[in-house]
Parts: sequence; structure tokens; C-alpha cells
Amino acid sequence: MTVGYGKVILFGEHAVVHGQPALAAALDVRVQVERATTATEHRVTLEPGATAFEPRDGSRLGEALEQLLAAAGNPVPQSIALASTVPVGAGLGSSAAMAVALARTYRPGAPTEEILACARAWECVFHSNPSGVDHTTSALGGVIHFVRDGGPHFRRVSIPPLPLVIAQMEPGADTGRMVDGVRDRLLRRPGPMHAALQLLGACAREAERALVAGDIEAVGELMDIAHGGLMSIGVSTPGLDRGCAVARAAGAAGAKLTGAGGGGCIIAACAGQDVSSVATALDGAGAVQVLATHAGVSAP
Ligand code: PMV
Repeated sequence: MTVGYGKVILFGEHAVVHGQPALAAALDVRVQVERATTATEHRVTLEPGATAFEPRDGSRLGEALEQLLAAAGNPVPQSIALASTVPVGAGLGSSAAMAVALARTYRPGAPTEEILACARAWECVFHSNPSGVDHTTSALGGVIHFVRDGGPHFRRVSIPPLPLVIAQMEPGADTGRMVDGVRDRLLRRPGPMHAALQLLGACAREAERALVAGDIEAVGELMDIAHGGLMSIGVSTPGLDRGCAVARAAGAAGAKLTGAGGGGCIIAACAGQDVSSVATALDGAGAVQVLATHAGVSAP
């Protein structure tokens, strides 16, 4: 099936741009190609919302499509209808999921590396320096260990299902602007910022062991430490901090922001029986949307 998965970054966002490892999990939300027919011009429509775009239409989606088509070797024009269940603008990878679904349509049966190269060309339009963790997770599914440097290098990590509550606390921020903000702070304060990025990488390394062992308490504690690191590098907000505090008070093993920050979502690791109380508490605390799910079970 021609799909791209939504994703959450479990550990290592931002630090992954600077060479540290990240762990990301595909979600059971997806962008799916409903219809693809040969046409005279390239055109893509997206439901819900009836968004339509095409190359050179002046939109960023149109520009991203143009770059993806160039990376795909300028295939014959198609009219493509996409259907998405990935929330938009929440840092859950809707853009990368669209890119993967489209790349698979233009390059049917192509090896993963080619699909990833096409998706990367698309993602570069939205932020100039993507680590690649989003579209790699969207294409491969499951849980991915990802390192950018010298590669990128990525591999599947097999874990027992991790009960996770994902809550969007506020509108998401522009990923490129957040990545640039971290780079600027790193230039101003290299010593402490380097230490904070290393802390985030250390959390990702240790979390892999905890996830594989199914040790949710340890995963939660590492999420709390990672959230502190993300606050230090300047990507949290009072709303995200409050969401984490609400989740912990409702019984989550730990919580952190996920993705670029500056708004968007938090994730909370929960022992199975705490999922509904954590989700209810976040709902009551004014979350825009709450998703109770399991990470690590959505490999295609
Ligand atoms: O906005 P998101 O969830 O797609 O965040 C992307 C993750 C970053 O590490 C902030 C950027 C990147 O390219 O890895």
C-alpha cells in the first residue's frame, strides 16, 4: 500500500541535527494514496481540507512537490488524491508522511534509499537542514534509531508496545525557525549548549535499553530528564511544561515535549492502566487533541 506514517520523536530531537542519536516511532496515523491517474499536469489533492497543489503554484507544498519530482527523475504527470489521518501542524510528521506516500507513487517499487532521497528533497523546502529522522521513520515504520553523521545510519529497534499518550497543547511552531534558534544559541553559548545536546543524546542511548526491556518507569524518568534538556536549549514553552506536569501528576511515568517544540505536542510514557487517566487529565487541562496509543506496533 502506498502510505507514509505519522511519527513521534521519543528521544533526541534537535540534538539529532548536531550529531546525537534519536529514537522515533511511527504511529498508526498515516497519509495514504487513494487514487493516482495519469494526467496532463501534476496535481495533488489532500483530504481532509481539500488542499490542492501543483508545481509552480506559488505555495510551499507546490515547491516541495517540484523538488520531489526532480529527485524522482521527473516522472510522467499524475493526478494524485491523498487522504490523511495525521494531525497537521502538531509535529507528528504530516509533511514527511505526504512526501513518502508521494515518492512511493512516483517511484513504485524503488529501493528505500531512493524513496528517502525524494522525501528529503521535499523536506528541504520546509526546513533547510533536516536531519532525516522524520521521513526515515515515516518510510520504515516501527521504532527507529537514527544518527545523522557519517550516513545517515538508521536501524529498526524491536520493542514491546509502549503505552503512550500524545497531547497537542498548542499550535506547533515552524520547525526551521526552532532549528535555527538552537543553532544561534549554540553559537552564543557553545559550552553549556554542547553539554545540553550531549545530555539529550545520552538520554536517547539509555532509553533504547529501557525501551527494549519494556521498563516504562525508566523510559519515563529519561523523558523527564530529556524535557529538562529541551528546556535548556530553549525549545519548550509554558504550555508544554504545564502539559508535562499534568501528565506526571495524573500518574505518567514521565513526559517530555516531542518534535521541534515552541508549541505542538508532549508525549507521556504510561504504565498500561494509567493511559486513560493521563489522557483524561490532559483533556481537562485544555489540550487541543489527545491520542492514547502504543509506540512500536505500526511497522508496515
Ligand atoms: O517538527 P518535527 O517534529 O518534525 O521536528 C523535527 C525534529 C528536529 O530534530 C527538531 C529537526 C530534524 O530535522 O531532526
